[in-house]
Amino acid sequence: MHTTFLLNGRRVTADTTPTTTLLDWLREDQHLTGTKEGCNEGDCGACSVIVTDESGANALNACILFIPQLEGKAVRTVEGIATPEGALHPVQKAMIKHHGSQCGFCTPGFVTTMACAHLNGAQDHDTQLAGNLCRCTGYAPIIRAAQEAAEAPVPDHMHDAPLLLTENTAGEATGAEPPTTPEALADWLDQHPGGTLIAGATDVGLWVTKGLRDLGPVAFLNRIPALAGVTVTDDQIHIGAMTTLSALHSAVGPLYPAFGELIRRYGSVQVRNAATIGGNIANGSPIGDGSPALIALGATLHLRSVNGPRSLPLEDFFVDYGKQDRARNEFVEAITVPRAGDHLRCYKLSKRFDQDISAVCGCFWIEVADDVVKSARLAFGGMAGTPKRAAQAEAALIGKPWSETTVATAMTALAQDFTPLSDMRASARYRMAAAQNMLLRAWLEDQGQETNVLEVTS
Ligand SMILES: Cc1cc2nc3c(=O)[nH]c(=O)nc-3n(C[C@H](O)[C@H](O)[C@H](O)COP(=O)(O)OP(=O)(O)OC[C@H]3O[C@@H](n4cnc5c(N)ncnc54)[C@H](O)[C@@H]3O)c2cc1C
Ligand code: FES
Ligand code: FES
Repeated sequence: MHTTFLLNGRRVTADTTPTTTLLDWLREDQHLTGTKEGCNEGDCGACSVIVTDESGANALNACILFIPQLEGKAVRTVEGIATPEGALHPVQKAMIKHHGSQCGFCTPGFVTTMACAHLNGAQDHDTQLAGNLCRCTGYAPIIRAAQEAAEAPVPDHMHDAPLLLTENTAGEATGAEPPTTPEALADWLDQHPGGTLIAGATDVGLWVTKGLRDLGPVAFLNRIPALAGVTVTDDQIHIGAMTTLSALHSAVGPLYPAFGELIRRYGSVQVRNAATIGGNIANGSPIGDGSPALIALGATLHLRSVNGPRSLPLEDFFVDYGKQDRARNEFVEAITVPRAGDHLRCYKLSKRFDQDISAVCGCFWIEVADDVVKSARLAFGGMAGTPKRAAQAEAALIGKPWSETTVATAMTALAQDFTPLSDMRASARYRMAAAQNMLLRAWLEDQGQETNVLEVTS
């Protein structure tokens, strides 16, 4: 399979298997060994690279990025951070000055992520670097280096343009024409029932790097523009399946700050720049963060196959653990959310604040008029085999006075809605108590009480 892109400003064509990762190709084929392999599953950021496409420059984890996902884009590795003449980048100078490196294993990843944030003018350094782990230096010198570098101008060579913007590479990507429209994807899926769709590869990448799986026929969705992007109208928000969590954050964060904050705690910058909302829903995970928020917002899921489109309420998609209402030849095309004020609250409970999967995620849409609950959609992740609404608790709220007594009744009703599991993230008892307390927290916050117990940042 041939993939053409820019690598540190140079046009290259990689001839690889579809599931060769960028990390392996850089290190083994190009002998660019500055990009490190730490975890090989998207958790540590040692393999961070900068990938520029029409959305701009994004830090991504090369270990779970397949080469065909790069078609027409521009990649910059740690070897391309200093100028071509060898002058150090401001973040490299600042890392030396502030002693931001000890053993140095994490350093190329940090420098690359920092250079990407520097390029984008991002100064929320804790958030930008949450996906980069350092086991020895400690983060304070690294953050000081990022702060100092932020004052310096961006070196000219850092401004990459994606290849597809400057020339048309269509036709040389894969030999066989990859799907470029939803209809073509429907045809492909019909001809390859059970074939693997690859969106951001933040799940599928691990099937290869950790599961060592041979995926058989695969289709990459990154060349279908109609599946990407968010359109906001007066009536609804239309979210294409290939919308990354970062793009979703930019689009819905201003409309629903609670959803924006939930997305900020989804993986890391590198994960959010790759992961798509379509993949987050299609994988059917009971602990995915996107679905509870979208269910609380009253989202509709749009599927497509050769038989045409089909729509259903998002919560109905999740039938049972590992079972979704999706035929083998259907794919997720989009999600739509009705526009109506903002009554959303989202709470994510995980062992770590950053870069951690939810033990419990509770998202609530509670509309109150004249002190009476008009409507309630309470959706949870981590409480059942699927993301699920709390029907009994909703019934205990709707039509009742919005009071502590009503909330206490709804909290009790949650025990009828869910029989959570105990696992390494949390015990069943802890999950139930946490879910109930999330409801109480929503009420307390609505009364203007400060409940900021978790959000500890430096
Ligand atoms: C380090 C790390 C941290 C993470 N943190 C979080 C977190 O905090 N919260 C969270 O919710 N998740 C988290 N995840 C999980 C992961 O990011 C999500 O599940 C992700 O959204 C999957 O989307 P993707 O585009 O990467 O999907 P892919 O990996 O490409 O695909 C996932 C599955 O969905 C299928 N698929 C993809 N797109 C479609 C489509 N349009 N139609 C039909 N099927 C499709 C694929 O075939 C595959 O079965 C994390 C993952 C990693 C590696
Ligand atoms: S090697 Fe750890 S994120 Fe890639
Ligand atoms: S300097 Fe050793 S892991 Fe960061």
